[in-house]
Amino acid sequence: MKDSKILKTQSDIFKITKYQKWSNKFILPVNNIKFFKDCNHVIDIGCNSGIYSLVASRYAQKITGVEGDSNYFKRTLKMQKYFRNSEYLSNFYDANRVKFVCEKFGNFDLPEDENVDGVIICNIAYHFSKQEVDSLSNLLHNAKKVLMQLRVKGAPNVNNNLKLQEINGAKKYLKNLGFNIILKQHHMCPILLGKKS
Ligand SMILES: C[S@@+](CC[C@H](N)C(=O)[O-])C[C@H]1O[C@@H](n2cnc3c(N)ncnc32)[C@H](O)[C@@H]1O
Repeated sequence: MKDSKILKTQSDIFKITKYQKWSNKFILPVNNIKFFKDCNHVIDIGCNSGIYSLVASRYAQKITGVEGDSNYFKRTLKMQKYFRNSEYLSNFYDANRVKFVCEKFGNFDLPEDENVDGVIICNIAYHFSKQEVDSLSNLLHNAKKVLMQLRVKGAPNVNNNLKLQEINGAKKYLKNLGFNIILKQHHMCPILLGKKS
């Protein structure tokens, strides 16, 4: 089956999983998650239901989803179980490649023995403390690919993290780290960024 026939949007996934119905506005660029095809290890920071990690398991070798809230984390594990046990979804996604960790990103020990070459930062960076922004910079130093979604209107700006809360600040921040925008679909959709090899 072609990728385009699988799951196009987050709401498609929720229709199938019947698990949670989020806003239809969060369009998941499933086909573009092919974007992680050459990645050895992708880290999804603030993974919540884990949906991005699980969808990335179609192409990335290994994914670690980090979620700081233990209540949300229960739902992350449920979603992983759903992907693992669903005859339909397990044809396309390998939930066993994903490890979920319940930890604040600031307390999460970045893997030292291997390169993390992909990072997912969707609707999360504005939560980061200064220390977490520094950890993110370390991670992005070696990474080649980033899937980022910026703050949605009305979301709290917890740490007044201006450089990561809006498009110009985030673009400048990532450009300084060597990233360029590869694909930006529309303002509610994650942006794909990569480094020139
Ligand atoms: C707005 S949700 C975004 C979820 C997901 N990335 C997405 O775009 O669908 C933000 C998530 O990040 C988690 N979070 C917030 N601060 C965090 C931190 N410092 N470390 C890890 N997770 C955090 C929250 O618990 C929440 O699940």
